[in-house]
Amino acid sequence: SFESLPLYALIAGLVVASSIWSLRRLTAPYRMMETAVKRIGEDLKSPPIAESGSREVRTAAKAVNAMQARLRAYVEDREHLAAALAHDLRTPLTRMRLRLELLRNSIVRTALAHDLADIEGIASSVIDFATFEVTEEKSERIDFWSLVESIADGFEEVSFDNEYTRSRGLICVARPVALRRCVTNLVQNAVTYGKKAHLSLRQSDRIITLAIRDEGPGIPQAELDAVFGSFVRLEQSRNRQTGGLGLGLTIARNIARSAGGEVSLSNHPDGGLMTELRLPLAV
Ligand SMILES: Nc1ncnc2c1ncn2[C@@H]1O[C@H](COP(=O)(O)OP(=O)(O)OP(=O)(O)O)[C@@H](O)[C@H]1O
Ligand SMILES: [Mg+2]
Repeated sequence: SFESLPLYALIAGLVVASSIWSLRRLTAPYRMMETAVKRIGEDLKSPPIAESGSREVRTAAKAVNAMQARLRAYVEDREHLAAALAHDLRTPLTRMRLRLELLRNSIVRTALAHDLADIEGIASSVIDFATFEVTEEKSERIDFWSLVESIADGFEEVSFDNEYTRSRGLICVARPVALRRCVTNLVQNAVTYGKKAHLSLRQSDRIITLAIRDEGPGIPQAELDAVFGSFVRLEQSRNRQTGGLGLGLTIARNIARSAGGEVSLSNHPDGGLMTELRLPLAV
C-alpha cells in the first residue's frame, strides 16, 4: 500500500548511505596511497604520512613510508657519490691542466688539451645531473623575459619571432641558476641539432610558454618521449662536438617540473622541432 512507501524510501536511503559509507571506508587506504604516492613522486623529501586511522590505512601508510625512506636513502647515496666524485676529480684535473702548460707546443699537446676539456665537460654534466636535488639554491621570483633575453644574447643563431616588445611582469618562481640551465639546454639543442632557434614567449591562463622552433630534422615521432631519458642520444657517437651525454633534456625537464612546469617536444607541421617550456606565472 502507499502508506509504507516513505518507509521503503527510508530503508532504501539507509542502504545506499551505508554502502557509500562502507565503500569509502574500504577505499580509504587506496585514496590515501594515491595522494601519498603523488606527493612522493613530486618531492621525494616530503614528510612521511601519518600512520594512524584504521588498521588497513595504517598498514598502507607504513608501507608507503618505508618505500619512501628506501628511495630517499638510494638517492642520497647517489648524491654523495657524485659530490665525492666532483671533489676528488677536481684536483687531478687541475694538476693535469698545469702540467699541460709546461709541455712544448705540439699536436700532442693540443690533442691532450681537447681530451682534458672533454673529461672536464663530462664530469661536470654528470655531477650537475646527480647533485641536482642536493643543491641548496633557493627558489626566487625571476623576470623570465630578462632571463631568456640574456641567454639568447649568447647565441648568434637565436632570433625572436613575435613582436619583440619587452613585456614586464612575466614573473615565475624558480631556482635561478637551475632555470638558466634549463632554458640554455633547450636553446643549445635547437642550435646544435636544428641550426637556428626561433624563440617566442606568450602568456595565457597564468601559464608562461617559451616556444623554441628550430630548422633541423626534428625527432622521429616514436622517440619524442624516449629522448627525455637520461643518457639517451639518437645519434650514437658521444662526440662532444655534436652534443654530449644525453642528459640535457632530462635535466631541463627535472628543473621545469620542480618549478611546477613542463617541457614538451613536438614536430612542427612545417618542419623543425618545436620545444615548449611552460611555467606557472607567479601570483
Ligand atoms: N632540437 C632537436 N632536434 C633534433 N634532435 C634533437 C633536438 N634536441 C635533442 N635532440 C635529440 O635528443 C637527444 C637527447 O638530447 P639531450 O639534450 O638530452 O642530450 P644531448 O644534447 O645529446 O647531450 P647533452 O647532455 O650535452 O645535452 C640528442 O642527442 C638528439 O639526438
Ligand atoms: Mg643537449
